[in-house]
Amino acid sequence: MRSPRHAVVVAASLALAGCEGWQSSLDPKGPHASAIHDLFWFFTAVCALVWALVVLALAWALWRRRGLRPDPLSIQGGRERRLTIVVSTLVALTGVTLIGLTIASYASQRRLFGPQEARLTIRITGHQWWWDAVYEDPDPQRTFSTANEIHVPVNQPVLLKLEASDVIHSLWVPSLAGKQDLIPGRQNLLTIQADRAGVYRGQCAEFCGWQHAHMGFLVVAQPQQDFDAWRNQQIVARAPPDDELRKQGEGVFLSSTCVTCHTVRGAGAGGRVGPDLTHVGGRQYIAAGALRMSAEALAAWIVDPQGVKPGVHMPATPLRPDQVQPLAAYLEGLK
Ligand code: CUA
Repeated sequence: MRSPRHAVVVAASLALAGCEGWQSSLDPKGPHASAIHDLFWFFTAVCALVWALVVLALAWALWRRRGLRPDPLSIQGGRERRLTIVVSTLVALTGVTLIGLTIASYASQRRLFGPQEARLTIRITGHQWWWDAVYEDPDPQRTFSTANEIHVPVNQPVLLKLEASDVIHSLWVPSLAGKQDLIPGRQNLLTIQADRAGVYRGQCAEFCGWQHAHMGFLVVAQPQQDFDAWRNQQIVARAPPDDELRKQGEGVFLSSTCVTCHTVRGAGAGGRVGPDLTHVGGRQYIAAGALRMSAEALAAWIVDPQGVKPGVHMPATPLRPDQVQPLAAYLEGLK
């Protein structure tokens, strides 16, 4: 039995975890997120001040309220003039405040959407319920796709071209940028930038069906050198399996229904319905953030995807028990 004190500690840590860490607008780690963060606190401060002044004025008015005027028609000229000046001044101040907030908002928009030179472009397509990421390059040989986890170099604006294949989704990596919708039939642009190396979590922010909550996304920000190494490694095809178990696993993969939906470059699998699995073992999660990457998680996912994400479009793959382990080992080994 857990004590009430334990519950309080858990609740407090959950509340605090929402303010900092890998998925929080209040913990910005890039210039775009900082612009939104600054605007948020500016609005909060101004609105809190206005609220406090209104409540004080109300309290003061209630405190010195007198009885009803003996005759409502008896107007005292001097008092009326004073009241007119006070009310007009307050109306003007309200106008000035609103104009100030509008200017602050406009200035933030310029920081978010002003011209920026992005050297890296990633096309992200939202699907129910995962993210397809294609790293574009003028040289088609250097174009590759991955899923649910993107790597970016630090201190560089990265342009995301956002599209959707089925319904409207919304990409939101709170520590790096604001939300942007992914809409079928059109392309929206969003620039993200990380100032510090780290892993930042994102989430689909537009209700898109049953597993909307399990549509997570990771941005791994790395120093340029590490990013280049990662990118060069993603471009190449999978390394052929080097042990018996994984060789057997590739055989299972290629002879089962997996290949109709998934790509493993170099293995002869070219399905484009589900995520590209060429380097799936190098990702931190599977199923768009639903499970931590491990051979066991892969096995559980392949055998019973509906048990992990009810409603998911991936069908269960009918496999014999002696096929599941090699297949999971094979996929986990695709680094
Ligand atoms: Cu995709 Cu919510």
